[in-house]
Parts: sequence; C-alpha cells; structure tokens
Amino acid sequence: MADPGSLSATSSRASTVRLMVPTDANFVGNVFGGHILAEIDRVAYIAATRHARSGCVTASFDRVDFLLPVHVGDVVDFDAQITFVGTSSMEVWVRVRAEPIHGGEPRLVGEAYVTMVAVDSTGRPVPVPPLALETVEDRLRFEEGRRRMEERRRTRHRQPP
Ligand SMILES: CC(C)(COP(=O)(O)OP(=O)(O)OC[C@H]1O[C@@H](n2cnc3c(N)ncnc32)[C@H](O)[C@@H]1OP(=O)(O)O)[C@@H](O)C(=O)NCCC(=O)NCCS
Repeated sequence: MADPGSLSATSSRASTVRLMVPTDANFVGNVFGGHILAEIDRVAYIAATRHARSGCVTASFDRVDFLLPVHVGDVVDFDAQITFVGTSSMEVWVRVRAEPIHGGEPRLVGEAYVTMVAVDSTGRPVPVPPLALETVEDRLRFEEGRRRMEERRRTRHRQPP
C-alpha cells in the first residue's frame, strides 16, 4: 500500500510547448543548446514544485543528451516527470520532442535528468512527500533514479570546510 501522504509521478507531471523562432537560433541556424537547457530547467522546476509544494532550486544537471538538432520553426514539447525522491531532493526526467510547425513526424531531440531540491524561504533543504510507485515502470525508474542519485553523491564536489 502507498505511504500516506505520498504523491504519484502523474500528479506532478509537467509539459510545456514552445515555438522556436529566429532569435533562438545559433550561427548555423539551429536552436541554441542553452535555450533548450533553460526550457528543460523550467519544466523540471514546475514538476518538482508541484511535488514538493514548496520552493525548489536546481542542484544539478546530468546526462543532457542532444540527440538531434532543433530547427527554427519547430514546435518543441518538454515533458517532465519525477523519477526518484530522496529526503529533500527529486530527480526529474525531461524528454524533449520537436516537430515542424507545418507537420511532420515528432522526433526525440533530447533527454535530461535534473536534480531539484526543495528549500524553505531561507534556502535550507526541506523534506518532500514520498513518491507513490503505482506501476512497474514507476518502480523501475525509481530504482534507476536511486542508483544515479547514489552516483551523484559519490562523485559530487564538496566545498572545503
Ligand atoms: C542544492 C542546495 C540547496 C543543497 O544544499 P546543501 O546545504 O548542500 O544540502 P545537503 O547537503 O543537506 O543536501 C540536500 C539534498 O540535496 C542533494 N544535493 C545537494 N547537492 C546536490 C547536487 N550537486 N546534485 C544532486 N543533489 C544534490 C543532497 O543529496 C540532499 O538530498 P536528500 O535530501 O534527498 O538526501 C544548495 O547547494 C544550493 O542552494 N545550491 C544552489 C542552488 C541554485 O541556486 N540553483 C540555481 C543555480 S543559478
């Protein structure tokens, strides 16, 4: 049975849709990777804040894969889902798909894992609700997320005291 107070990944899912315009382009006419990253950060923030029901900050980005270029005139969908929850941290998986505005096959153009941490008004980490694992996929993603989170803990930079 689900932990009382736990929230499903579905309840915090977030999506945004953006039309890529000429001011988003780099010198070769494709969209800046940094522009895509900013949108990934925003949609991950929405999902994390919906889950945490408090303010959140971006703690880390890892495995950002740009699989295909995004073009001016593409409509780009950013879909965010919580995959793992620790005490105050949440791993958010963001999938990015693009399709030409006048029609055409949607293409998977990128994927990222973003760690968001819930914080209080002074910026201190605060606990978040547990994640209700409702499906086999939820459980698999959670276990994979746990492994990635352990790896992040093991490898991250610590400031000297
Ligand atoms: C993220 C932040 C709140 C963590 O604060 P902290 O004092 O290091 O807190 P802790 O060490 O107690 O870690 C709190 C949680 O964050 C996680 N965490 C901290 N740094 C992390 C990192 N670099 N990557 C992933 N997770 C991280 C910890 O694993 C812990 O998770 P848990 O509560 O689920 O176990 C703090 O480093 C911060 O404010 N960073 C700046 C965030 C920011 O401004 N982002 C926008 C950039 S412009």
